[in-house]
Amino acid sequence: MTTLKVNLRDGSTQTIEADGDMSLMEALRDNGVDELLALCGGCCSCATCHVFLTPEVYETLGQPSDDEDDLLDSSDHRTEHSRLSCQVPVSALPEDCTVTIAPED
Ligand code: FES
Repeated sequence: MTTLKVNLRDGSTQTIEADGDMSLMEALRDNGVDELLALCGGCCSCATCHVFLTPEVYETLGQPSDDEDDLLDSSDHRTEHSRLSCQVPVSALPEDCTVTIAPED
């Protein structure tokens, strides 16, 4: 289990527990983080599951794929620690992790 501290768009924080078998997007969605639209269902084709990771966690995950990188480029809010949460397995995250939901494009 991973404990995720989720910074929401309204400035509030939600803490959720995530199973290692799912993607970060699925963990957020299944725990009621409705502002994460995830319109394509995790097919890496919509970029509505955009999140910001901490620098430390971003570094441990390695670089996004070319497809993910291209989609992230389509966001006005991309930062150097942006990822599409559907492409991040919870199993790759530390036991305690902070995730910030990116602004809506
Ligand atoms: S859910 Fe569509 S790109 Fe992640």
